[in-house]
Formats: sequence, C-alpha cells, structure tokens
Amino acid sequence: MASMELHPDTLAVHAGRDDLAKLGVHALPLDLSSTNPLPDIDTGGLSYEVLATGGHPLEGGSHVYARLWNPTVARFEEAVAQLEHAEEAVAFSSGMAATTAVLLSLGEHGRRHVVAVRPLYGGTDHLLASGLTGVEATFCAPDEVAASIRPDTGLVILESPANPTLELVNIRAVVAAAGDVPVLVDNTFATPVLQRPLDLGAAISLHSATKYLGGHGDVVGGVVACDARTAASLRRTRAITGAILHPLAAYLLHRGLATLPLRVRAQQANAIAVAEWLRTQPEIAVVHFPGFPASDPLGLIGTQQDGPGAMIAVELAGGFAAATALTSAVRLFTHAVSLGSVDSLIQHPAALTHRPVQADAKPSDALVRLSIGLEDQSDLIADLAQALSAVRTARESAGELARA
Ligand SMILES: Cc1ncc(COP(=O)(O)O)c(C=O)c1O
Repeated sequence: MASMELHPDTLAVHAGRDDLAKLGVHALPLDLSSTNPLPDIDTGGLSYEVLATGGHPLEGGSHVYARLWNPTVARFEEAVAQLEHAEEAVAFSSGMAATTAVLLSLGEHGRRHVVAVRPLYGGTDHLLASGLTGVEATFCAPDEVAASIRPDTGLVILESPANPTLELVNIRAVVAAAGDVPVLVDNTFATPVLQRPLDLGAAISLHSATKYLGGHGDVVGGVVACDARTAASLRRTRAITGAILHPLAAYLLHRGLATLPLRVRAQQANAIAVAEWLRTQPEIAVVHFPGFPASDPLGLIGTQQDGPGAMIAVELAGGFAAATALTSAVRLFTHAVSLGSVDSLIQHPAALTHRPVQADAKPSDALVRLSIGLEDQSDLIADLAQALSAVRTARESAGELARA
C-alpha cells in the first residue's frame, strides 16, 4: 500500500493489514504463541541469529520465540510507522520500556549524554535523573539546547505538548539547535493525528500507547517510530531486555487505531468547549490550553500541530487545598492518573505523575490536569461546575472567602 498517498484517516483504518487477505481473514489475527516450530536446527539457529540482532524474519524461517518477534505486534508496528511517516516502528510493553530501550541503545555508539528539555512526564524525568540506564542527563529549557550539547551527546529528548503544563516546544528549532544529534519527540499528547515529528526533522517519535493510541484505558504499551537502522537497534535491545509488547495488547492497540482520528478530533472539540468555560470561572486562576494564545506564544498550533488536543491544565486560585477539593468533588470525571481515554480523567501532577521530579522542577501544587473524553460536553461542564462550587464552599468554610 502506498501509504503516503492515503489520507491519515484511511491509514488509521487500513495500515498494517496488508497480509490479511492472503491469510483469508478480515479482522486482525491474534497470535498468542510464546514459541514457534523450527523447520530444522540450521534454519532455526539462523532465524534466531537474525531476530536477536534486530533483523526481520527470514523467508522460510521461524519466528523462534515471542520475545524476538510476533506477527500481531509487527502489524501494529507497521500501522504506527505509516501514521508517523516513519520507515519502521518498534513496540514495547509500556511507554517507559520504550524510553528505556532508546536510552540503553545509546550505549552502542558510546554517546551516553542526553539533553532533556523540561517539562517531561515525571516517569521520564525520573528515569533520566536516576542514571539507571547509564545515561547522564542535562535538563534544560528549549533555548538552552545548543549550549547543552557535548561531544558525547547521543540524544535530545522533548515533549510537545509537554506533560503536565501543555507547554509547546518548537520542534524545528530544537532540531536545528541539536545539529547532528538525533531528537526524540514524545508525541503521546498530540498523537500522529495532530503532529508528525519526523516531518519536522525529529529522528524519533515515541508514544505511551497506553494513552490515545489505546484510547480505552485497558492497555499498557509503548511504541517508537524511527528509521530502519534505529528500529533494528531497538529490536536488538528489546530482544535482549525482554520488553516486547504483549500480542493481546498489540491487538487491542491496532484495533483502537481505526478510531484514533475520530476520537482525537471529538475529544479536542470537547476540550475547546471545556477550556473556554474554565476560563470564565473565578476559582480558576490560569487555564493552560494550547488553543489559547497565552499557551502558544510561538504560534505553533496550525503550523507545527494541527489542533490544540484534548488535554487541559488549570491552576486553582485556592492553591493545593482547592485542588484537593476539586479532585474529590468531581463525579463524572474519574480521579485517576493516565490520560487519552474515551472517558474524562482528572489528577494532581505534583502529588502523582510528577511526584519523583526534583523540587525545583516540579509542577505547581495548585495545578490539576484534565484529560477530556468523549462524553457530552455540557455534562462535563456541569460536573466541573458542581465540583467548583464545592471548592468555593470549602474555601468559604475555611474563612478564605466571604460567604456569598
Ligand atoms: C507523555 C508521556 N510519556 C510517557 C509516559 C510513560 O508511558 P507508560 O505509562 O505507558 O509507561 C507517560 C505516562 O503517563 C506520558 O504521559
């Protein structure tokens, strides 16, 4: 299939399914084999050698063992590669396993220094700061990337929009500042529906597939889209460390991709309505939403990213106590970490997703992050209205505000 000629909505439905007709099936096949028959020792051994070093299955060979290769996973990878305009994609058991594999693979070239543009998801920040992968990280702002590059820098890593503040980073500018150092963009919040980092010069687009790609809150997974050489190196790391995505998760993720464009656009339309309404609320001091000029000072929506997405962060006028009251008072929103699901979620990043981040880089205690789902937008606004009225009552009882 000539993927670049097809509209992304068409690709979302058809990509990664080229072999189905030959197999005589219409729905995605789910191959749960943990091991595979070997034609003979020589072919088996050769197949092992090729797959364990990151290659593709040999014609007439065996997949040998599911830690090395699985066809259900490979179909999902092919679909993501096409959506991200990448040569290949490699899928992992979680977003963090994907990032870990990228960092471990840097060791192959002996360039173990990483420039990390903050803010990042708290788990990514924690992994980089921990030194667990043998990587040394320099954290910086987008305009400090060039100055942070060293001779041993093997990667620049950024998120746009960033978790949790929704800051937008000019990807083309960071790519230019990075020179010959590859740039990894965590594209989890934007999804390939709204942003394709490889078209902007990035080398790698990474996803927590747990979020929008899965979209139904029932899968944990990660995926990296990149060129064929990087993909081979990542598959080798994945085979050695054992971080492959489970085929059942790959099946669910691939199935979910078909509705990704529809979900993202509908969730985004809801988020625009909710963000506009939140802006009018006295209990809310600041609304961070890429659709608002104040959150997009560089004008990246419409040039780099096709729309604002469906994530919102708010700072409460009443600080941490008000954030606590809000997350406890919602009824339709679920108070839970994660994001990108068909249902709306709310959580406090400083206490949860960004808990491990060092104190001076932590998000504000007054900040709450909302992931907007597919519910009717007036129901979402009504839920937030009743919750904010509970926040106001709590502040009045605490003597912070005069009673109405
Ligand atoms: C932007 C971003 N990247 C990566 C991750 C890690 O993904 P996972 O939880 O699938 O390991 C997350 C998780 O919340 C995330 O929000």
